[in-house]
Amino acid sequence: MLRRVKRQKARLSGLLRAAARARKNAYAPYSGFPVGAAVLAGGRIFTGCNLENSSYPLGMCAERNAVGKAVSAGNRRIDALAVVAGKGRPAAPCGGCRQVLSEFCAPDAPVIYASTSGRSVTTDVGSLLPDSFGPADLPARGRGSRTHLKA
Ligand code: THU
Repeated sequence: MLRRVKRQKARLSGLLRAAARARKNAYAPYSGFPVGAAVLAGGRIFTGCNLENSSYPLGMCAERNAVGKAVSAGNRRIDALAVVAGKGRPAAPCGGCRQVLSEFCAPDAPVIYASTSGRSVTTDVGSLLPDSFGPADLPARGRGSRTHLKA
């Protein structure tokens, strides 16, 4: 049990370091708020940063870019997420990202979000988005590439 907790802590701090590195590549000239994210999928780390646009609504969050990389590399299940943003209070993933995460994560998938000052919050996907809407709420349409990890 203790070993499992220790292993999870080590895994999450590795993910946090990757997220902090990715944050350095953020393209955030409009908000001035760089965000870095890292997800663990298939035993590999996939990173993302926020990517803004002069047409403001087209900007993309760091978390969703990391999820997109993991999924486009062939993964359908994301095991953990780390986010680094903000200077004082750690910034939690936005509502849209919580929904996207819930598509590919089990509710107990760990999430850690931290600020650059080193403060962090550890939680899980189910706590960030309880009672979520998901694939099971839609009528069954066979088991194609849509197949969700809960299917
Ligand atoms: N942002 C993220 O990358 N992730 C979040 O969960 C919240 C917000 C980005 C979007 C935008 O580029 C900047 O932070 C300010 O909202």
